[in-house]
Formats: sequence, structure tokens, C-alpha cells
Amino acid sequence: MGAAMPADILPSDEDAIDRAAALLRDGAVVGLPTETVYGLGGDATDDQAVARIFEAKRRPEFNPLIAHVPALETARKIAEFQAAAERLADAFWPGPLTLVLPSADGSPVSELARAGLDTIAVRAPAHPVMQAVLRALDRPIAAPSANKSGEVSPTTARHVLDSLGADIPLILDGGPSEIGIESTIVAVTGGRPRLLREGACTQADIEAVIGAVDRAAANDDVAAPGMMSKHYAPRKPLQLGVEAPSAGAVLLGFGPHAPADCLNLSPVADLVEAAANLYRMVRELDSGPGRKIQVMPIPRDGLGAAINDRLERAAAPE
Ligand code: TXA
Ligand code: MG
Repeated sequence: MGAAMPADILPSDEDAIDRAAALLRDGAVVGLPTETVYGLGGDATDDQAVARIFEAKRRPEFNPLIAHVPALETARKIAEFQAAAERLADAFWPGPLTLVLPSADGSPVSELARAGLDTIAVRAPAHPVMQAVLRALDRPIAAPSANKSGEVSPTTARHVLDSLGADIPLILDGGPSEIGIESTIVAVTGGRPRLLREGACTQADIEAVIGAVDRAAANDDVAAPGMMSKHYAPRKPLQLGVEAPSAGAVLLGFGPHAPADCLNLSPVADLVEAAANLYRMVRELDSGPGRKIQVMPIPRDGLGAAINDRLERAAAPE
């Protein structure tokens, strides 16, 4: 999906909502209003769409994304709710609360959206436009705040246009975000629940429902996301920058010069495609034959920086 230039900003009537859902179904990313801040949304079940989100944001790393759902029943398909999580969702959804929960078995959410973690952040937003898009698409929407990495979060459609207008085809205007700061994040993954990010749902609000919570910086939890998480670190040794495989090794290709018989992150050297394939292919090679995984050189521009970062972490001895 090439960059449309510049994005259309549409008032959020029924036609615009249908158009946003159609674009999302095609794998495009669009600017969407929520009651907290505007989000840069993509189909959370589509690796390529998720890779396009990271590309548009120019994220240096694949931070895990929040999967947005219309309601608790849909969230159950992608996350496991313990009692405390259930009570929080009952009390605050739809609304400005994100729950970090164990990822459900068989979840259709892209592994790239989770940055390879075995947990997932889920939120049911209250904004009627976001609700309408979620119901029209009938799939979870991965959406970070719709700003370039390092910029403050956008609270109007105009902010999104200024930051990302050249990179996305459509922004739905749902008026200024009522809340204007990102959602509160609480992790309920076993043990005492932890407040990872403060937001409009306060610690007191949360504690009134589930009792005392711990506090932790969001970064503590995801300091080493992706393949560094114990769960998905490849078991085989991994070596980078290899042009031709040595005996007993399997090659993970990149670009048109890779041997035809190896898995190739992107035969046309497209970094968006490579990011979308990364987790799946490394996992496939890890569970197949060969003692070692060797990866062809991948350029460091654009998403290449994040791809190399993840591979270097996976290659480093513990
Ligand atoms: O209000 C919001 O939450 C907005 C709107 C669009 O919903 N979204 C938003 O997304 O602020 P983002 O990507 O800018 O911030 C999400 C935060 C990041 O700090 C990320 O590290 C954390 O959530 N996060 C996501 N998944 C996580 C996980 N599995 N464990 C811990 N932290 C996680
Ligand atoms: Mg953000």
C-alpha cells in the first residue's frame, strides 16, 4: 500500500466509517479517533498492516501495541481474563483502561503486534466512531497513538495530519479527544496487578474495584520485548550478515539474491514485508532441521533498524 499524499480527513459519517473499514480490511493503516488520543489503526490480525504501523510511526523498535476491541466478549478471543481483569473490564469498559493480559491460545492477533511477548494489551475504547469502525471491521484493531515516535500524542485529526498525513490514506475526524492523554495500563498476569501507566482511570479508581495494585514503569515490563522474551528466543544459535550458509546451518534470506530454496523475509527486499514475516520465519526455522540459523544482511534504513535490533537480541548469548 503506497503512501497516499496527503491523507483525506473525513467527518465521521457512515460512509467514512465504511471507507475506513474497507481500507483496514485491505491492510492499510488509518487515523482513528478515540476518547483518549487519536490512534494509528491497522488490522491486528494482519502482520503486514502491523508492520506498516511501525513504518509510519518510525518506531526505532517494535514496541508491543494495544489491540482495540468493541467489548469484553470480543476481548476473550485474544486474551485470558483472570477474576481481577474481569472486574476491571466490567467497571471501566468501554473506556480509557488498557489491560495487559496473558495472550489467549489460538489468538488471531499478529505476533508482531505483541512484539513476540506472551502477553497482550487490550482495550475497549468508548469513542462512538472507533466503536463503529471496530464493529464494521469485526477484527481487533492494533493502534498506537497516531504520532511519529518521539512526538506527543495527537488529540485532533489535524495533529494526525501534520504528523502522519503523508504516510496514510485516511484520517477520520471524530472531534477533539475528550480525555487527551493515553489510557491507563494495568497488567493482570498473575500475582498482584501492576499499574504500568497512569491515565484517566486513576489508581484509586482501580483499587476501589480490585484492591491494592503495584506500580511499575511500562518499560520495566517490555524492556526486552520481541524475541528476547524467554518464550520466543530461538533455541538455535543465530548468526547475522551471512551471504551463504555453512554446512549444517539454515539460511534466512533477504532480497533477490537469496538462494531460491531458503525462506526469504522479502524476495523484493521490502522491509515492511520483512518485518511482517520476521517472527513467523525465525520460529519456523527454529523448529525445523539444521543446527544454526544464519541470516542474510538486512539494510538498517527504515524498519531495517528494528529488524536488525530484534535479530541482534536474538543472536546475543543470554
Ligand atoms: O489511549 C491509548 O492507550 C492510545 C489509544 C490510541 O488507544 N494508545 C496508545 O498506544 O497510547 P501506545 O502504543 O502509544 O502505547 C501503548 C503502551 C506502550 O507503552 C507499550 O509498551 C505498552 O502499551 N504495552 C503494549 N503491550 C504491552 C505488553 N504486552 N506488556 C506491557 N506493556 C505493553
Ligand atoms: Mg504513544
